[in-house]
Amino acid sequence: MSAPLLDIRDLSVSFRTYQGRAHVLDRACLTVNRGEVMGLVGETGCGKSVLSRAVLRIIPSPPGSIDGGEILFEGRDLLTLPRTDMRRLRGERISMIFQEPMNSLNPVFTVGNQMREVVRAHRKASRSEATDACLEMLAAVRLPEPGSVLRAYPHELSGGMRQRVMIAMALICNPSLLLADEPTTALDVTVQGQILAILAELAERQGLSILFVTHDMGVVAQLCNRVAVMYAGQVVEVADVQSIFARPAHPYTRGLIASIPGRSSGGELYAIPGSVPNPIDPPPGCRFHDRCLKATGDCRNVAPEMIRVVPDHSVACHLFNQDGLS
Ligand SMILES: Nc1ncnc2c1ncn2[C@@H]1O[C@H](COP(=O)(O)OP(=O)(O)OP(=O)(O)O)[C@@H](O)[C@H]1O
Ligand SMILES: [Mg+2]
Repeated sequence: MSAPLLDIRDLSVSFRTYQGRAHVLDRACLTVNRGEVMGLVGETGCGKSVLSRAVLRIIPSPPGSIDGGEILFEGRDLLTLPRTDMRRLRGERISMIFQEPMNSLNPVFTVGNQMREVVRAHRKASRSEATDACLEMLAAVRLPEPGSVLRAYPHELSGGMRQRVMIAMALICNPSLLLADEPTTALDVTVQGQILAILAELAERQGLSILFVTHDMGVVAQLCNRVAVMYAGQVVEVADVQSIFARPAHPYTRGLIASIPGRSSGGELYAIPGSVPNPIDPPPGCRFHDRCLKATGDCRNVAPEMIRVVPDHSVACHLFNQDGLS
């Protein structure tokens, strides 16, 4: 099998805060293969956005610092790449879209001005060549009347249209990796469905890999090929999407799946008891142990390593054994 497109190894990130140093990522590992859509799920505050921003090296420093690990992209460690190379890579090889497109679009310029600038920052193109590329990309994200969208200011568009513009801008230089940080959370379900369909189609057509951050397991089921489950700054389970729903191995993953509306027996919505631990003083052993109904002495004291469940499915849990019982 060829090397993954993105290979994050033992990534640790912390932030200086008034209460002390917050260890937000602790030796997190994750891979994204070429052409796949990888889901990254976990409760609020578990480090999903920090991990995706670390890939682009856009963690504010201070207060943040990358304390260790490697982020191999197309075989090169992004953490040691010179700034100029990193700048070129952003937008050209790796792009990112965020939850709230208004924060990424400049309100005083038209969509056309902003999109053309992206094109011309990365390749030699005349104004009309750049315009043609923009129109083509706006049509690819199924915006009706791309010409009038190009002339519009961001505030003249709906939330769903703005998100499509963001996707078009992110993909216009044909990157090989798209980091999508909850890009559909602010949209209503119908528009969310349309955006997911567009992303799936573009991923397939352009051979694009996507790291799709969400806390919605329903979205994972709809879009992703594989999924990584994060808990308190660590990746605790990785599997292909069928296995994660059919045989979730980590008690936390089981809790997340049981929390999907309509999944739990009896019709009541399940909620995992407790909350994500404070990254300033994370618990020893397995970080999930004080929310886990089956935790043992080992769970309280020894950090579990990733073990293989079956090929393409790994879990970090002391309770897992090869019979699949935990
Ligand atoms: N600039 C910062 N300074 C201090 N702490 C930060 C900073 N950015 C993030 N954190 C902390 O890092 C942790 C992880 O944050 P992150 O935004 O990655 O969570 P998340 O998994 O994306 O959550 P959500 O689902 O709500 O988006 C949180 O505890 C957060 O408070
Ligand atoms: Mg986030």
